[in-house]
Formats: sequence, structure tokens, C-alpha cells
Amino acid sequence: MSAASSHPAPQPDPAVRPADRRVSARIGAIAESATLAVDAKAKALKAAGRPVIGFGAGEPDFPTPDYIVEAAVQACREPRFHRYTPAGGLPELKKAIAEKTLRDSGWQVDPAQVLVTNGGKQAIYEAFAAILDPGDEVIVPAPYWTTYPESIQLAGGVPVEVVADETTGYKVSVEQLEAARTEQTKVLLFVSPSNPTGAVYTRDEAEAIGRWAVEHGLWVLTDEIYEHLVYGDAQFHSLPVLVPELADKCIVVNGVAKTYAMTGWRVGWLIGPQDVVKAAANLQSHATSNVSNVAQVAALTAVS
Ligand SMILES: Cc1ncc(COP(=O)(O)O)c(C=O)c1O
Repeated sequence: MSAASSHPAPQPDPAVRPADRRVSARIGAIAESATLAVDAKAKALKAAGRPVIGFGAGEPDFPTPDYIVEAAVQACREPRFHRYTPAGGLPELKKAIAEKTLRDSGWQVDPAQVLVTNGGKQAIYEAFAAILDPGDEVIVPAPYWTTYPESIQLAGGVPVEVVADETTGYKVSVEQLEAARTEQTKVLLFVSPSNPTGAVYTRDEAEAIGRWAVEHGLWVLTDEIYEHLVYGDAQFHSLPVLVPELADKCIVVNGVAKTYAMTGWRVGWLIGPQDVVKAAANLQSHATSNVSNVAQVAALTAVS
């Protein structure tokens, strides 16, 4: 098993006057999304007539179901859906997301714990921004989806990789996590089903990890966007359901992109404790305001 490795935050060159620096150290350190880059390349090759199958972006290869598209068409015709919504999302969508979460995961949450975001991606960024202070460490099981470390670093945090390989089906153990834990550790990132490995933790494995997080008072950000993409005997389990004691320090990220073939509509959400959700909503209110009103109606139709 490989040891943990960490990536400290980039610092500006103190020898250079601020006015003579161009792109900030923080933003300059962000790599282009490798997923989107490889996806663009695959699409260009396909357009040129090459027989390419893209394994880059996680994108269903069928269109959004008709009844969802129809709801959006109707919403386009109604002026009330041409306006801003509350920054945190349409109240009816937040309610429907809470109901969907109970239905699909067995987790009872209040709509006030839901923040509707521009895709799961914005939820991940805002969740880390809401809870990380500079230097806080986030344990990131690897191989990972490339957005995670960038979001963590943008928020001032330090991603600490814990590598899992094929000998464990690309799943990390509590022992590995414990070896990576330091006094600076604040958050564990938990993704099951995982992108890119497809690994799905069993109930016992996930529960043991959740209990370890509770034992050490750690936060968990758990990305459940692939909850319905499980095959064979694999079963999805939601961490705050397996370990209810975790709920006060657990943020769940999800969205309509994968389950409902709605990648381009850009609707995701985070669910968490109300103080964190409020902080993330404040951030979003200044950054992007609400998610497209019409897209929220489409998402409401999907999750209902
Ligand atoms: C693991 C994982 N989480 C979150 C997302 C974000 O999805 P979106 O922002 O399209 O909702 C993706 C997209 O590829 C993903 O692979």
C-alpha cells in the first residue's frame, strides 16, 4: 500500500511586487479539467468521422427523457420561471430533493439542509470553501476524479492522497486512512460508486470508514452522484444513513446529471448541516446567484 502524499497550497513569489504578478498563484496552479479536455478531444475525433468511444466525461449516451424536456419547455413559456429564484434554489425543488433523498437513500433531511447548485461540481467547490481554513487537510482516496484536489486547493485546503490499487478493488482501508490522519486532518472525501475506478464499497466497509470518521471527529464529504449506476451484486449505501452520528459533520453531494442524463442542464445539490448550508448559500449568492430557473423546473420533474 502506498503512503499518503500531500500537496501544499501554492504561494505567490514574495520577491515579485504584487502589481507585477499576473495570474494569482492560487488560480495559476489550477490544471485544466483533464476530463473535459479528453472529452473535447473525443468529440472532435468523432466529428471527424473516427470510431471513437469516449471514456472521459461521465455522460449517459442517451438524451434527457421527454417528460423532463417537456416540463422545461412549459417553464420557458411561463414568465414566473424567467426570474431569479432564491439563491439556494426553488423551494419546491429543495423539498423534492429532500423527499428523493429519503426515498433513494433512506436519509431524512429538512429542505433547509439542501442547497441547489450549478451541478455537483459547484456543490463540491462550495462545500470545501464553506468548511476549509488554510492548511486544513482533506484525505482524498486515489485514483480520484480530477476536480477534487483542485477544489480543495482553491478553498485553501491541502489534499492528502491515499492510494488504493487493484489488490483491494481500488478501495482504501481504515488502516490506510488512519496512517494518513494528522492533527491537521479535517475532512475525508468518500466517493462510492467511484469515478474513475467504479469501486463500490460494501455496507461493512463504508460503515467502518464512517465510524472511523466519527471516532476522530472528522468531517466527511461524500459524493453520491453515481448512486444509481451500480451493476451486479453491488449496492449503494449512503454514509449518513449507515452512521447517523456522522450527520452533523457530513455533506452529501448529488445531482441530476448522471441518473437522468442531464449533464448539460447543470443542476446539482449539497445536503448538510444548516450552518454549513447557509454559509455555502451565502457564497453562491455572490458568485452565481441561483441555478437557471428553467433547469431547476426540469430537475424538479426528474427527481419527482
Ligand atoms: C465523481 C463525480 N462527481 C461529481 C461530478 C459532477 O457532475 P455535475 O457537475 O455534472 O453535476 C462528476 C462529473 O463527471 C463526477 O464524475
